Amino acid sequence: MGEGSARHEVLRARLAQFSGFGATAAGGVHRPEATEANRAARLALLDWLADLGFAPRIDPVGNIFGLAEIAGPEAPWIMTGSHIDSQPNGGRLDGTYGVLAGTIAAAELVAQHRATGQAACNLAVAAWCNEEGARFQPSVLGSQAYTGAISCDWALDRVDGEGISLRAALAEIGQLGSDAPAPHPAAYVELHIECGPVLDRAGQRLGVFDRWWGCRKLELRFEGSPAHTGPTPMHERRDALVAAAEVIGGVNRLWHSQPEGALHCSVGRCEVAPNSPNVVPSEVTLFVELRSTDADVMAQAHQQTLALAETAAGGAKVAWHVQRDELRRPGQFAPALQAIANDVARELGEPAMRLDTIAAHDAVPMARICPSIVLAVPSIGGICHAPEEDTAPGDLDLGLDLLHGVLARLVADGPGMLAADQGGSGA
Ligand code: GLV
Ligand code: MN
Ligand code: MN
Repeated sequence: MGEGSARHEVLRARLAQFSGFGATAAGGVHRPEATEANRAARLALLDWLADLGFAPRIDPVGNIFGLAEIAGPEAPWIMTGSHIDSQPNGGRLDGTYGVLAGTIAAAELVAQHRATGQAACNLAVAAWCNEEGARFQPSVLGSQAYTGAISCDWALDRVDGEGISLRAALAEIGQLGSDAPAPHPAAYVELHIECGPVLDRAGQRLGVFDRWWGCRKLELRFEGSPAHTGPTPMHERRDALVAAAEVIGGVNRLWHSQPEGALHCSVGRCEVAPNSPNVVPSEVTLFVELRSTDADVMAQAHQQTLALAETAAGGAKVAWHVQRDELRRPGQFAPALQAIANDVARELGEPAMRLDTIAAHDAVPMARICPSIVLAVPSIGGICHAPEEDTAPGDLDLGLDLLHGVLARLVADGPGMLAADQGGSGA
């Protein structure tokens, strides 16, 4: 058995193992950050990293790192990774594939370079805390804390829908670490499923993301009055859900006023109180997302959303305000890393397609501090954030080979090959 097929076997076995942590009857996983299932996956990863000879660390925001100092204490670091938290009833590949493939590819290179003593760089694997932003907002939380975009304390103070802080949730599962984070790397390479339909529809097996879409995430709060849904006269009701419902419909239609494909917009979550069938809803929070590559399109959609809320709240005689407003600007991944990935893909006989990522990845905050890239394999039917999320086994193998090839070049030749290329505009 060649090295390639051996690494593919390990990938199959590890994917099967990790698909068991939080497995759902529908074939996906339910593993939001700092849940019991997430804890089980974290412990399995920590054990595996230690077995492979990486020094495992858990930093104070719950990021997991495995470090292999194969080139000495002064040498630069190359990092790979992704996340092992999932959406509620999500898929088994989103994030986990990148962590498992990253660990396998890095371990192989560590073993090889320990034998030859010729590495130019050290290697680190990362599993970032709360990438999904499902249980705690914002998303890409652990990687943002690592890069200094947000403070550690602020990250730990985020609360879930039940009012439980990330700090308390991580402590509860024994994953509130005290280790120093990994040293900042000279390059970050992440492997991920595409999470969209482009590769699958084009019949391509490999992709390299060269741009990421921007995203505006808003929490809109509507406040009316609780009242009996029976006797209360209709014209006296102050129904927060009526206002929110109009905004949901309006946000869904915003893309019609933009060029085809320029804006993706949705309301993914709605919290209603008191949420009783016979009480007029008095408090509603909507979680709105507006995504585009064009900053002007996002700004326009943002203004339209606020105008929708104002009109809908006025009509329903309820108060409203913006509870959270977060902007991720669109940007570009590092061209030199794209070039390396394209080269390796060609060598593998499957030229990589250039793609935008509309989903968020930890490589986006990482692009603030070092050249960063995401490599992609097809999502069958474009399905992601759902239990049906899947990728053909041969494509999963090929993605692992691409990641291995890119890391191999970086570790052997060092970050000099990236020249002065920082990429990361707009991160
Ligand atoms: C997470 O997957 C996101 O794109 O927000
Ligand atoms: Mn992901
Ligand atoms: Mn995701």
